Amino acid sequence: MKKIKIIKPDDFHIHLRQDELLNLTVPHCSESFARALIMPNTIPPIASVETLRQYRDEIAAKDKSFTPLMTFKLLKSLKKEDVLAMKEAGALAGKFYPAGSTTNSADGIKRWIEIKDLLKVMSDSGLILSIHGEDPSVFSLDREKAFIPQIEEISQEFPDLKIVFEHISSKEGVEAVENGSANLAGTITVQHLLMTLDNMIGGTLDPHSFCKPVLKSPVDRDSIQRVVLEGNSRFFFGSDSAPHLIQKKENSSGCAGCYTSPVALPLLVEFFEEHKKLDLLENFVSRFGAEFYGLPVNDDTITLEKTSWIIPDEFSGVKTLYSGRELKWKIK
Ligand code: NCD
Ligand code: ZN
Repeated sequence: MKKIKIIKPDDFHIHLRQDELLNLTVPHCSESFARALIMPNTIPPIASVETLRQYRDEIAAKDKSFTPLMTFKLLKSLKKEDVLAMKEAGALAGKFYPAGSTTNSADGIKRWIEIKDLLKVMSDSGLILSIHGEDPSVFSLDREKAFIPQIEEISQEFPDLKIVFEHISSKEGVEAVENGSANLAGTITVQHLLMTLDNMIGGTLDPHSFCKPVLKSPVDRDSIQRVVLEGNSRFFFGSDSAPHLIQKKENSSGCAGCYTSPVALPLLVEFFEEHKKLDLLENFVSRFGAEFYGLPVNDDTITLEKTSWIIPDEFSGVKTLYSGRELKWKIK
């Protein structure tokens, strides 16, 4: 049987949620990923040393072999000392959510200038700025493009600040990273790599592929595929796996977020294999992100076998992307 063995990957953007859901999300994540960058848009948000420590301990207690890499949410009310204290407590990145752009972002930032002092401290102390790059005041499909000037401004103001343009969904977003400074990188999700808006609304409506930023055109998806298949080290994997209970997705006011942890790695292997670029998989999932974040690559390895399986209809009340579909690769 065909097998593939690679360095155990990292997921540089994940929502593990809280309480009971951690019993689902942590084992699913740790099956494929040795470490993951934990998003802070919980309720209340991760925005203090206490909440950060408590959340990290709660996650770590679910699986001793898994390393949560912590982030905090940038809030207007934060002080420079708070940011430094969270860095001291182990935070790797601060997350900038434009106010109203996505799930639990009402307390976000209107324009970057509001947090200029905090960005200065982050730059000086080596914290990474992680950005949900969408301007929610414009038309859905143009939101990412409309946000790019803010990324360029931050990058010019703070040339030493490392910035991650999260879950790139558009050709313009791809090009902004490609043409930006060496301190700018982008994460890519499986849904934006593989799907277009037609997967969500081209036939019947699939709420389980609804996420922010919303899926876009074939041109956008192709440009995401292009940089991944070129092996561009400025783009690395961040799943943005973001579970919501089925009743919150299949709803007249459905939540944004795709749950992908249990299927992401097999889908990626399939994608690289189909494009005859399996040799590039390990860099994308296990090396480029660690290098950008200044972390050593993981010691562990993971093996996948070419065995087909069907994605279950649900996992404890949550549906993944592509539920019911056959996958060609399985984690051993
Ligand atoms: C995420 C969530 O549900 O927390 N949703 C999403 O659609 N991606 C938040 C986010 O990363 O935008
Ligand atoms: Zn996210």
